[in-house]
Amino acid sequence: MSKKYFIKTFGCQMNFNDSERIRGILRTLGYEPTENWEEADLILLNTCTIREKPDQKVLSHIGEYKKIKEKNPNALIGVCGCLAQRVGWELVQKAPAVDIMFSSFNMHQLPELINQAQAGYKAVAILDSPPEDEDKVWDFPTERDNLYCAYVTIMKGCDKNCTYCVVPQTRGKERSRSLESILEEVRRLVDDGVREIHLLGQNVTAWGKDLERPTPFSELLYEISKVPGVERIRFTTGHPRDLTDDVIEAMADIPQVCNALHLPFQAGSNRILELMDRKYTKEFYLERIQRLKESVPGIALSTDIIVGFPTETEEDFEHTLDVVREVEFEQIFSFKFSPRPGTPAATMEGQVPDEVKTDRMKRLLDLQKGIMSKLAKRYEGTVQEILVEEEREEGVLIGRTTTNKWATLKGGSELLGKIVRAEVREASPFNLNCELLEVVR
Ligand code: 5AD
Ligand code: SF4
Repeated sequence: MSKKYFIKTFGCQMNFNDSERIRGILRTLGYEPTENWEEADLILLNTCTIREKPDQKVLSHIGEYKKIKEKNPNALIGVCGCLAQRVGWELVQKAPAVDIMFSSFNMHQLPELINQAQAGYKAVAILDSPPEDEDKVWDFPTERDNLYCAYVTIMKGCDKNCTYCVVPQTRGKERSRSLESILEEVRRLVDDGVREIHLLGQNVTAWGKDLERPTPFSELLYEISKVPGVERIRFTTGHPRDLTDDVIEAMADIPQVCNALHLPFQAGSNRILELMDRKYTKEFYLERIQRLKESVPGIALSTDIIVGFPTETEEDFEHTLDVVREVEFEQIFSFKFSPRPGTPAATMEGQVPDEVKTDRMKRLLDLQKGIMSKLAKRYEGTVQEILVEEEREEGVLIGRTTTNKWATLKGGSELLGKIVRAEVREASPFNLNCELLEVVR
């Protein structure tokens, strides 16, 4: 009987994509996935450490999963990803049930690590910086649940060093994946029936600067759009500073690039932006958005916001509300500032009390709620192109518009993977109820 693995993923889409690759590696080793951790021979937690909450969650999960060893003494528990990278050996000491630990730099070593752990050793591979051979990881296939939309990691790491952020510690310096390697994966995915390619990186718009032949990100967009069968292209996450005019022009010019962009602004106050070392001002951000809106009419914007950064005053926070009011994002992801060990902001003077953060977060979300209802109404009566991704129940399909909104429509499974045109009958912030008009392609 084949061995089974259970994997639990925390954090961002990059982590999610790492898990897809880990699943591919496990498949080549003969492991089958299971949804039930109690019957697994290998339990893996792919962790995040961006804020304090995910850290705590991981430890409580290990506490639960270690019970597996009572039933199956040979079962292995592994921890990988950003928390593993940040905490290292200390985590094995805190949670001795952990047999395997590796960071995102060491994913390709998983086969050796499993061997080592099966032989009874603690298998820990946590490097301080990416190894020479990390590109080997691209040789492994990914294993995905969504048949029509696929993530493709195009770069790793981040050079921006925002003062609140732990990512440069956990993911290292920016490294771009080569154009050939990306295109090869895109071709393979399209051959498998994928229609939407979602490019990933901590800072995708900086792709290509460090390549042997430095290449702008906009060129990558053009190259991918030329691969026959690519119907849609998305990319996350960009930094406002790298959203150069050529990227905006490419977005406007390439029909496959979706009408949506996630562009974190983090804070509206220039004083706070400077303390965060974001290297732009509120005015610069708003100018980029203005430019985007003009060039790509109807673009749906989303963003990340941190409330309660050290020393943030009521007046600073008002600037954040201001940006939210002016831009009218379709979606915002807001977070209370969480001090991360080893980052400059963690030890800054003027830490903001939790009650104040909670209050600001609530006001932000109240404001956003109104904006979302207003924007949703604008969809009513419009005709949208939807990529049908899933049959939720018999005869009920769900898919996404190019503006990244979920849509529901009636239809049969023959529409799965098709791009259809549909009229929006009723719109709420998280769903568009649509009626099918025609199949486009
Ligand atoms: N505290 C709160 N939020 C944070 N983020 C990153 N670091 C922190 C932190 N220390 C948020 C940012 C980022 C998103 C992924 O998480 O908004 O864009
Ligand atoms: Fe979490 Fe950041 Fe790591 Fe993603 S890159 S898993 S958000 S710490």
